[in-house]
Amino acid sequence: MTEETLSNLLHENRRFEPPAELAAAANVKASAYDDAAADREGFWAAAAERLAWTKKWDRVLDWDNPPFAKWFVGGELNVAYNCVDRHVEAGNGDRVAIHWVGEPADEARDITYADLQAEVSRAANALTSLGIGKGDPVAIYMPMIPEAIFAMLACARIGAPHTVVFGGFSAEALGSRLEDFKAKLVVTSDGGYRRGTASALKPAVDEARQISSRAGHDVGRVLVVRRTGQEVAFDEDVDVWWHDVVDSASPEHTPESFDSEHPLFVMYTSGTTGKPKGILHTTGGYLTQCAFTHWEVFDLKPETDVYWCTADIGWITGHSYIVYGPLANGVTQVLYEGTPDSPERGRWWQIIADKKVTVFYTAPTAIRSFMKQGREIPDRHDMSSLRILGSVGEPINPEAYIWYRLVIGGDRTPVVDTWWQTETGAIMISPLPGVTAGKPGSAMTALPGVSADVVNDEGVPVPHGSGGYLVLTSPWPSMLRTIWGDDQRYIDTYWSRFRDQGFYFAGDGAKKDEDGDLWVLGRVDDVMNVSGHRLSTTEIESALVSHPKVAEAAVVGATDPDTGQAVVAFVILRENAGDGGEGIAKELSDHVRTQIGPIAKPRQIMIVPELPKTRSGKIMRRLLRDVAEKREVGDTTTLADSTIMELISAGQATSTED
Ligand code: WTA
Repeated sequence: MTEETLSNLLHENRRFEPPAELAAAANVKASAYDDAAADREGFWAAAAERLAWTKKWDRVLDWDNPPFAKWFVGGELNVAYNCVDRHVEAGNGDRVAIHWVGEPADEARDITYADLQAEVSRAANALTSLGIGKGDPVAIYMPMIPEAIFAMLACARIGAPHTVVFGGFSAEALGSRLEDFKAKLVVTSDGGYRRGTASALKPAVDEARQISSRAGHDVGRVLVVRRTGQEVAFDEDVDVWWHDVVDSASPEHTPESFDSEHPLFVMYTSGTTGKPKGILHTTGGYLTQCAFTHWEVFDLKPETDVYWCTADIGWITGHSYIVYGPLANGVTQVLYEGTPDSPERGRWWQIIADKKVTVFYTAPTAIRSFMKQGREIPDRHDMSSLRILGSVGEPINPEAYIWYRLVIGGDRTPVVDTWWQTETGAIMISPLPGVTAGKPGSAMTALPGVSADVVNDEGVPVPHGSGGYLVLTSPWPSMLRTIWGDDQRYIDTYWSRFRDQGFYFAGDGAKKDEDGDLWVLGRVDDVMNVSGHRLSTTEIESALVSHPKVAEAAVVGATDPDTGQAVVAFVILRENAGDGGEGIAKELSDHVRTQIGPIAKPRQIMIVPELPKTRSGKIMRRLLRDVAEKREVGDTTTLADSTIMELISAGQATSTED
C-alpha cells in the first residue's frame, strides 16, 4: 500500500454504529474488554468452559518456557465430541449442521447433527481398521464435499493429527507436504467439480506419493471418495474406496479423550524461505478460541442463524470458521462446493436467498470482483435475511467495505473486518458487531483477551497516528505451538525480531489512527497476498530456478486492483538458453503451475539481463516493484551497478496473462 493510499485511508471518517436491536441482544458486550483486562486467564478459562471437558485443567496457561505455550494444562477433551455428539445429546440431533450445495445446480444434501455423528463415527471406525491410531499423521486432499469434513472430524476423534492440503496445490506441493508431515494415509477423491467440469485429484496423489517416496517417506494407504465417477488408476495394495470401508463401518464410536496439548492439525503455509512451514495447532486452546471468537465476532445464535463462510477447507479459515468453530457452536451452515460464478454469476446470492443465510464471511478479493460485475447481479436476489457480514484475508479497502455493506447487506448489516493468520489459529483483531462503531477499512481493536500493538524498529509502541510493525504482546489460547519438526525455525521466525520484549511478530505492517484503532496494511516481509492466498516470493523463485533455462529469478508482489497483489517475476536466462525461444514466458509460467499450483502463476514474467543488487549481493525488490507497478524507479544509489535499472526498464515485458 502506498503512502498516498494510506493517508486517504486515514481520512476515512464514516462510522457505522451497531444496529440497536443487535447491540441489545449481543452475545458479547463492551464489558468483555474490561473483564478480560482485569483477568485474562480467567476470561479464557470462562471461554473454555463453553466446551465439554472430560478432565478439567489444572492450570490455564503455562508460559514458563516461552515461546512454547501450553494452555489448559492437564485438561482432556475430544474435539469431535465437542463439535458433534454433544449437540445430539443436548436434543439437537435433528438440527441441520451442513446444507451442502454442489456445484452442479441439481445437487444438494442436508446433513443433520445426528447424521454427522453417524458419518464421523463410521469414518473413525474405518480409519482405525486401516491401521490409523492416536498420533498417526493423515493428509487430506479434497474438494469441498461433506466427506472432507467427516474425514477431518474422524481424525480429531481418534487423535490422528491431520494436514489438509488445498486441492489447488500441485502434486509436487502435495508430495513435499506428505514427506514433511510423514503422512501414513491420504484421504482424497477421484476428482471435484470446477466451473462445470470434473477435474481429477487422484492422479496428483499418485504422483505425490512417488515424490514423497523418493524423498524417503512412504505413504501406506489412500482412501478415495467417489465424487465425479471419473476413471482412476487403482493400486489394490494402497488404494481403498471410501464407500467400501466407510459406508459399511459401524455408525457407533466411543470417543476417547486427549490431552489439551495433543496435536490436532498442521497447516502448511508460505514463509519467507522456499520451504513451507507446518504450523502446529493443538487441541484445547485452539478449540476454545475458535469456538469463542466465532460466537463473539459473528454474534452467532445457533438456534436461528444460518452461517456461511466461503473459504476452502484447505486454508486456515476453513479449519477454524467452517469446521471447528462453527460446529463446536452447533450452528447450521452452508457448505458450497464450487466457484462463485458457476453456473452463473449470481450463484452465491442465489444460495444466500435459498438458504436464508444470516451471517456471511468472505474475502475482499471476492467482493472486489463482484463490484466489477455491477450491483444488478446481487440486486436480483432477496438477501434480506443477512444480518452480519465478515471479511478476512487481506486489508479491505473502504470502497469495497461500503459496497459490501450497502449492496450485499442492504445498509443494515455491520461489517466485521477480521485480522488473523494461520499462526494465530483464530480471529485476533476485529470489531464486535454489537459494540463497535465500525470504520470502513479498519480492523479496529484487539478482541477481549488478545493484546496487540504497533511498534517501531526498536519494539517501542508508536503513538496514535503513526505506523509500524504489528505485534502480539501476550500468548493466546489458539496460538501456534511450533513449526512441525522445527522448534528453532519457530523461534527465529516469530519471536526473534522483538526478542527483548517477548513479542510475537506477525509480519504485517499496521497503523494506529488518532483514536488508537488499527489499520492493517499488509506484509512487510517477502510474503505476498494474492486473492487472500499467502504466497512466498522465495518459493516461487525456487520454482523458477528449477527450470533448466533459468539462471536467476526475483519475484515481487505488485499491487493489483483485483487480487490485492499479483506475482511479477524477473528472470535471467542461462546463456545456453539464448532468448529462451518463443513462448518462454508461458513455459515458465506453466512450470510454476506444476511446481506449486495455479494460484502461484505469475501475472507477468519479464526476461531481464541483470537484477538490481546491492554491493553485498542482496536483490533490491523495492526497485523491481517500481517497475512492476509501472512507477518511476526510486533511489538507485545503493546499487552495485546503477545502469542496471535502465536495462531492466527498457527490457521487453513479457505478459503471461491468460
Ligand atoms: C493478511 C488468513 C488485513 C495478513 C486468516 C496476514 C489481513 C495474512 C486480514 C494471514 C485483514 C488476513 N486485514 N490483512 N482483515 N486478514 N490478513 O495465514 O497479511 O492465510 O498476515 O490467514 O493475511 O494469511 P493466512
